[in-house]
Amino acid sequence: MKFKAMTALAGALAISAVGAANADPVEDTLVINDELEMVTKTAAPEHMEYIDEIYSGWHFREDDTRDMQRDDFDNAGMLGVEAAMDAWDTVEGTAGKACSDCHGAIDEDQMVGVRAVYPKWNEAAGEVWTIEMAMNSCRTEQMGAEAWGYNSADMINMTALMSYVSRGLPVNVAIDGPAAETWEKGKEIYYTRFGQLELACANCHEDNYGNMIRADHLSQGQVNGFPAYRLKDAKLVGLHNRFKGCIRDTRAEPFDIGSPEFVALELYVTSRGNGLSVEGPSIRN
Ligand code: HEC
Ligand code: HEC
Repeated sequence: MKFKAMTALAGALAISAVGAANADPVEDTLVINDELEMVTKTAAPEHMEYIDEIYSGWHFREDDTRDMQRDDFDNAGMLGVEAAMDAWDTVEGTAGKACSDCHGAIDEDQMVGVRAVYPKWNEAAGEVWTIEMAMNSCRTEQMGAEAWGYNSADMINMTALMSYVSRGLPVNVAIDGPAAETWEKGKEIYYTRFGQLELACANCHEDNYGNMIRADHLSQGQVNGFPAYRLKDAKLVGLHNRFKGCIRDTRAEPFDIGSPEFVALELYVTSRGNGLSVEGPSIRN
């Protein structure tokens, strides 16, 4: 057990080991709609130094929460996917175009696999782009439409649709070449201690996954399930919003949603899940 890290945190946060039976990720298999087999646990990518096996956050949730993800009828995140399917075909902006005019009908498979490789280096912009940035560039440059707010429902629903059409494919972001610098920056943020509690992402999600923090079963903080339908908020939650909540829990001032810091962090954290299935929209508490 990771006792040293645990005792350091125990006082401030009430992190505790749970009974041996459920201290670890739950042994279970995720098959969606009885046909789509998901990789929710696999060998860690080579760049990870301290973890051998990676797990989707799904393995750390309660039975009934896990069950809601087995069937799309029980997955409330699918409402966002459906809303985005309508938006996909809706003409907006001065160019008089819908997403589908350029990218084809959503069931034509043109967008399959896109989610799995984002964040990704954008050559023309000379920076790493999240899929939200790529979509907003389409809105402003291709459609002559207003950019969506990074954390708006329209944006989150469309990211849910992009995940949905790539669901089951392995996350596979590139961390080398021109993306390397951003990845390093994200890694640095991941290991930086923030706030009054002086906690890094790693203290909770690397040193203590499997342990309880208050009433929550700590996962590895993987991002393959995003956007996630959070039962506590009764809505789909975007990734940077989740990052923000985690940093706020350390009593630090979080970075802004869509900020270069969160883009870099997203690239790094996503790369820690290379090999897991794209799982969004997932159900989390
Ligand atoms: C007028 C044509 C046009 C419209 C309309 C359009 N796009 Fe695009 N989109 C493009 C082009 C061109 C690219 C860049 C292609 C590339 O880099 O492979 C692109 C790239 C993308 C990418 C990244 C693809 C990749 O493989 O990296 C996403 C995601 C995307 N668009 C989503 C959308 C969404 C969502 C909408 C509607 C809100 C939309 N697009 C509307 C032309 C368009
Ligand atoms: C004080 C401990 C703590 C710290 C520090 C922390 N988190 Fe979390 N995080 C949690 C808890 C608790 C949850 C909800 C249960 C879970 O999935 O682990 C969570 C959930 C997440 C999730 C959702 C995982 C899923 O599958 O739904 C992500 C992603 C995440 N954290 C990323 C981060 C990142 C990145 C950082 C650093 C900026 C960070 N966290 C810092 C406690 C922490």
